[in-house]
Amino acid sequence: MSCYEITGGQALSGSLAIHGAKNSVLPILAACLLVPGQCVLHNCPDLSDVSATLDILRLLGCRADREGDTIAIDASALSRSDIPDHLMREMRSSVIFLGALLARIGTAELSYPGGCELGPRPIDLHLSALRALGAEILEEQGALVCRGGGKRFRGREICLSVPSVGATENAMLAACGCPGLTTIVGAAQEPEIVDLQNFLQAAGAQVTGAGTPTVAIQGGRALHPAEYAVMGDRIAAATYLCGCAAAGGEIEVTGLAPDTLTAVLACLKEAGCNLHTGPNRVALASSAPLRGISPVRTAPYPSFPTDAQAILMAALAGGEGATLFVENIFDSRYRHVDELRRMGADIQIAGRAAMVSGVGRLHGAAVRSTDLRGGAALVVAALGAEGVSQVSELRHIKRGYQALDKNLRSLGADIREVP
Ligand code: EPZ
Repeated sequence: MSCYEITGGQALSGSLAIHGAKNSVLPILAACLLVPGQCVLHNCPDLSDVSATLDILRLLGCRADREGDTIAIDASALSRSDIPDHLMREMRSSVIFLGALLARIGTAELSYPGGCELGPRPIDLHLSALRALGAEILEEQGALVCRGGGKRFRGREICLSVPSVGATENAMLAACGCPGLTTIVGAAQEPEIVDLQNFLQAAGAQVTGAGTPTVAIQGGRALHPAEYAVMGDRIAAATYLCGCAAAGGEIEVTGLAPDTLTAVLACLKEAGCNLHTGPNRVALASSAPLRGISPVRTAPYPSFPTDAQAILMAALAGGEGATLFVENIFDSRYRHVDELRRMGADIQIAGRAAMVSGVGRLHGAAVRSTDLRGGAALVVAALGAEGVSQVSELRHIKRGYQALDKNLRSLGADIREVP
């Protein structure tokens, strides 16, 4: 089992182009099922979650070819609508295929996506949104058998009690196959939803309002092939910026819109980093130990993103001063804390709250990734720590970070993957 071996204390410097966004390319790949023709997507990251999604598309009868960071998907010959259990287990966010399959061929069958490292991952909002559009969904022994199509499947109002990213995306895709107007009230406003809307518009769909609490879809229109470039990954960018904040130095990340990271940048600035932004770049300089900052409460966009919680915590744990974190989105998103404690972190947890008291500097240790962002957090911590760390269970990290070690080496970090 390979691991990253990291010798901390090397200040970072240089510029890095951020890869395409995992949480944008996955729903856009699902949206390609709506198009009876070839779509071409650029800036697609090379991640295990993307590979798993391509496997599912091929199993459903699509052509899916990658050349560099460009992926061509041809869903003309879509022939199946059942996703086998082993592929659902490989990636729970495959639930996003539900809406697109119902819209395109009127049926979908998949096993209940289980929980994951972050705790239970319910899909009740997905199912109630699709039922609001007239879909019939039977839940039989852990499988979901869904029927759309027909007169009952038409545009309606959907109210989401929680601004779920995935449920908003599923509803948008299903509504494309429903004649008439669908409005999604209480929609998630994440930038990745705007990216999905932009792709759908490029394919001829009438979708508006993404990025606001109300998204409108005029469905039932035939869509046509589209070519589209996926947005940059704001959470990957936050990871490199927090890595520099922890290790010291000065870096620039390019290929993302700074306004998709406003809440994270505000925290880094309050912690003592110098930040400069341009149309598609963020530069960060960090020379002194990070200070404690005002409470960090995770919440739906545009508030502080839950995906950056562990990453910022790792940077602050090696600083000075105390910071209170409150994780409001997921039930089990502090699993990285025990591993940070092995590096000397002083973190007290009480329910959803975690009080981080900076210890001046962490020390290297052998630690295990617990989940995608928790694993990235351990790398961030190791970059600023005294001595050598080994970060194992890299499969979690490789789900969402393309060439993390190579990219960090290009910025001057002492990191390599060892068997
Ligand atoms: C997306 O997950 C992201 N994943 C997550 O990123 C991200 O953390 C999350 O949105 C929040 O921003 C992808 O886009 C592939 P939600 P999603 O539905 O859609 C509850 C990463 O690290 N909920 O917005 O699954 C749910 O339990 C990953 O890149 C219901 O109760 O998140 C959670 O508490 C991790 N019922 C809250 O809503 C539902 O039917 C927000 O979840 C659906 C969700």
